[in-house]
Amino acid sequence: MSHAEDHEGTRRDFLYYATAGAGVVATGAAVWPLVNQMNPSADVQALSSIRVDISGVSEGTQLTVKWLGKPVFIRRRTADEIEAARAVDVADLPDPIARNDNIPGEVPATDENRAFGESGEWLVQMGVCTHLGCVPLGTAGDFGGWFCPCHGSHYDTSGRIRKGPAPENLPVPVAEFVDDATIKLG
Ligand code: FES
Repeated sequence: MSHAEDHEGTRRDFLYYATAGAGVVATGAAVWPLVNQMNPSADVQALSSIRVDISGVSEGTQLTVKWLGKPVFIRRRTADEIEAARAVDVADLPDPIARNDNIPGEVPATDENRAFGESGEWLVQMGVCTHLGCVPLGTAGDFGGWFCPCHGSHYDTSGRIRKGPAPENLPVPVAEFVDDATIKLG
């Protein structure tokens, strides 16, 4: 690692820790306040379940909502994204577990075990990097899914970690379709 890279990494780490409780933006990546995660206020706790209108989400785009003090990504995937996600061999994944709260136990991280419905058009996941909690950027990275610029974690179009320091796939929270246009979180 060059001196410049090392300096940049140290600076980013510093910014991450220095701003963790303030909720500011550092080096282009939103840093989610750890204080909020650990001490949710009463009004946040009260919203343990929310309904999200997804009628305006077009194919290939993502809606980000705040739930329990954290961002949730609701993505309507393209056919190509679904195909790419389903072509992956689970044996090649750094984290082979689906991390889906809607399926009990530790099931394999196939795309079918993470996305909603047979077509897999909808993917709902927490927008918090499993490394140190930054918010990954959408439609980015080497695998066309999400990229966390804080330390370089690449997630695929199923939200599974493929490269970089993040140890786990982005978790899929408890969620269900109330009707064609509404998803309930929690
Ligand atoms: S927080 Fe370190 S790679 Fe995302």
